[in-house]
Amino acid sequence: MRRVPLHRRLRLLAATLAAALLALLATGTASAIQPGGITDEARLMNDLFWIVTIAGLIVFGLVGAALVYAMIRYRRQNDELPPQFHGGGKIEAAMVGVPVLIVIGLFTISMIILVQIDDKAEDEALTIDVTGFQFSWQFAYNLNDLGTNTDPNAEGTIAVIGTPANDPILYMPVDEPVEFLLKSNDVIHSFYVKDFLYKLDLIPGRVNSFTVTARETGDFSAQCAELCGTNHALMRFTVRVVERDEFDAWVAAEAARQLGDGALVSTSGTQGD
Ligand code: CUA
Repeated sequence: MRRVPLHRRLRLLAATLAAALLALLATGTASAIQPGGITDEARLMNDLFWIVTIAGLIVFGLVGAALVYAMIRYRRQNDELPPQFHGGGKIEAAMVGVPVLIVIGLFTISMIILVQIDDKAEDEALTIDVTGFQFSWQFAYNLNDLGTNTDPNAEGTIAVIGTPANDPILYMPVDEPVEFLLKSNDVIHSFYVKDFLYKLDLIPGRVNSFTVTARETGDFSAQCAELCGTNHALMRFTVRVVERDEFDAWVAAEAARQLGDGALVSTSGTQGD
């Protein structure tokens, strides 16, 4: 009778458990590195990430436990052939049915969240025109499309234009939907804000758009995430999420600086309301 010695099997078991532990640690590290996100959309994605991860860990645990149980409980004891049979209706049905149910469940949750994330902003929402170029960014705001407090009759556009040596700052107000329109006139860039948990390409000849509602104020670093030439690494920018008052004050100051003092007369009227 040739049997694998117990200590070797224990060693194998220990190795398996160590591998599982490593996988768990990797997940933990990933969650420490990966921020939870500062927008409604990011938080939904973060929830989805954890739902899928935890579902996977539960399946892993159950399958692993069943495997270890079967290995120990039904290990070869002697040379007698165990009872032979063919098929096992209930087990086979469960082994097909349960995964199908899990996949349908995950698909449904993913679709619901995807639809919520892809929800388009109302027309009244603030729109920011983002243009990526070799090698920085331009963020343009139309004065009649500033979301809350907008004067529909305001005219003109203000823009923040960065250079590779001087990272631009993208101002946006907190707690309201902001729509981004992404354009490029040279090559493909990618608008990546880590704390949005979101990344979208800027493709010459088309306009990509997405909408987020930020829930935290502060500065969040961002960058181009598509290799677009020699200075790709210099295409960094900062997303600055501020309170509405501060945003309006910034717009007024930029409009005065870029368009002349008279530019925002009517808008500053509505701001005083
Ligand atoms: Cu633009 Cu990389």
